[in-house]
Amino acid sequence: MMNISGSTVAFVTGAASGLGLAAARALLDAGASVVLADRDDPSGVAAELGDRALATKVDVSEPDSVQSAVESAVKRFGTVHLTINAAGIAPAATILGRRGMHDLDKFRRAFEINVFGLFDVCRRTADIMQHNVPDENGERGVIINVSSGAAWQGQRGQAAYASSKAAVIGMMLPIAKDLAALGIRVTSIAPGPFDTAMAAGFSDATRATMNEIPLHPRRMGRPQEFADLALHIVRNPYLNATTIALDGGARMV
Ligand SMILES: NC(=O)c1ccc[n+]([C@@H]2O[C@H](COP(=O)([O-])OP(=O)(O)OC[C@H]3O[C@@H](n4cnc5c(N)ncnc54)[C@H](O)[C@@H]3O)[C@@H](O)[C@H]2O)c1
Repeated sequence: MMNISGSTVAFVTGAASGLGLAAARALLDAGASVVLADRDDPSGVAAELGDRALATKVDVSEPDSVQSAVESAVKRFGTVHLTINAAGIAPAATILGRRGMHDLDKFRRAFEINVFGLFDVCRRTADIMQHNVPDENGERGVIINVSSGAAWQGQRGQAAYASSKAAVIGMMLPIAKDLAALGIRVTSIAPGPFDTAMAAGFSDATRATMNEIPLHPRRMGRPQEFADLALHIVRNPYLNATTIALDGGARMV
């Protein structure tokens, strides 16, 4: 699998911006129907993308919100074949800072969205995928979870973010094993520095550093480069249970 065609349905979180939006656009260009799920209302974006794009305003950390988003996807398109979990936040704080200790709620929030929310979307969309008619490779679905190079090379001030992204990698193998018998592949992508809204929020100095970290090319990644990899993973049936670093060789020291 998976031939991306007019009958393919993708559920993409974080699709109002950055990597999720790039993947959603690429899937639409390839002919799929795409559910754009984001906490920032994605209606405007979806309207520009045409009839095969469905906007759902969802907070992935709210189980009711995820449930109704997946239900609206099934109501509109009948099923889900592909899930791309790109919703995420990157709170920054050192464990001991000028204003005192790291706020626990800030730490918890990173996990609620980056880990619990991502897992909830995995389980609910897998629950739909398991009923798909398998293709010629026996495949019913593909899940791609967005981690981060921070899982391995977390910077100062990234304890919450790096550990939440490590959890995304940690859950991938057991979930892939759990879902293998159903013909559902699960992979994660660990992007290096990418030029998105997330990076736009950083200081000029940090952005300059982000452009310097990759070995080659020495620049931040382009969202299209993420989308290209996501579509390759979908199309390549032998890619399963692995985390792919997409980072220009960046090893953040
Ligand atoms: N940009 C980078 O350098 C970089 C590097 C490594 C990993 N990542 C990861 O890539 C993913 C996409 O990030 P991006 O760079 O495109 O950032 P982005 O800020 O452009 O996009 C993230 C999207 O997630 C959405 N979101 C946040 N919390 C949400 C919630 N609770 N429910 C639903 N949607 C929510 C935001 O509204 C936003 O549209 C994130 O998981 C991020 O951690 C980014």
